[in-house]
Amino acid sequence: MKKNYYESAANVESYSKFTPAHDGALLVDVLSAHLPKGSTVLELGMGPGKDYKLLTQSFTVTGSDFSNAFLDRYRAQDPAANLLQLDARTLETEYCFDAIFTNKALIHFSFEELQQSFACQHEVLNDNGLIMHSFWHGEGQNEFEGLTLVYHNEQELTAMLEDSFDILALERHAKMSEGDSIYVLARKK
Ligand SMILES: C[S@@+](CC[C@H](N)C(=O)[O-])C[C@H]1O[C@@H](n2cnc3c(N)ncnc32)[C@H](O)[C@@H]1O
Repeated sequence: MKKNYYESAANVESYSKFTPAHDGALLVDVLSAHLPKGSTVLELGMGPGKDYKLLTQSFTVTGSDFSNAFLDRYRAQDPAANLLQLDARTLETEYCFDAIFTNKALIHFSFEELQQSFACQHEVLNDNGLIMHSFWHGEGQNEFEGLTLVYHNEQELTAMLEDSFDILALERHAKMSEGDSIYVLARKK
C-alpha cells in the first residue's frame, strides 16, 4: 500500500469527486437491521464522509481515517463532527464500540494487514459487537493510479473471520456494477 496517496490534498479532492453508481445506503441499512438505534459505531477510512453522515441518522458515530487530509476536509464542512485520526491496521484507541463499519477502506491492505486489523477490531468491540465491511469482490490484486487494490471473496473472508466472529451475512452487491462488491456482517464471538 502506498501510505501517502490519500494524504495528498490533490488526491483527496480527486477521490471526493468520484461518484459511484451506488452509495453506501444499502450497507448502512443492513447494519441498521441488526443494531439498535443509538448504538456506538466506529467508521474506519471514512474518506469524504458520505456514509458517516448516513450513519449519524441512527447511531452515535465516531468517524475516522488514516489521512488527516480527509479529516480536515470533513471538519471544514461539519466542525461538530466526532472524528479521530486512526490507522485501521492498529486501532490505537482507548474507546470501545458496538459496531465497526467500513466501505472500501480495507481494500489496500495485504492479507497480513487485514488479519491484523480484524484482530484489533475484535479488541475494540463491545461484547456481541458487529463488523460491517465492504470490499471489491474477486481474487488477487491490481494497481490503480499507484494504489494496490486487493480483491476478496466469500471463502477467503470466511476463513479469515470464522474463528473470532459469527458471520451473519456475506453478500455480493454493487458499487459501480452488479456484483462487483462483497459485504460481510459479523458478530464478535
Ligand atoms: C477507497 S477510499 C474509501 C473512502 C470511503 N469509505 C468511501 O466509501 O468513499 C479508502 C479510504 O481508506 C483510508 N485509508 C487508507 N489506509 C488506511 C489505514 N491504514 N487506516 C485507516 N484508513 C485508511 C483512505 O484514507 C481513504 O479514506
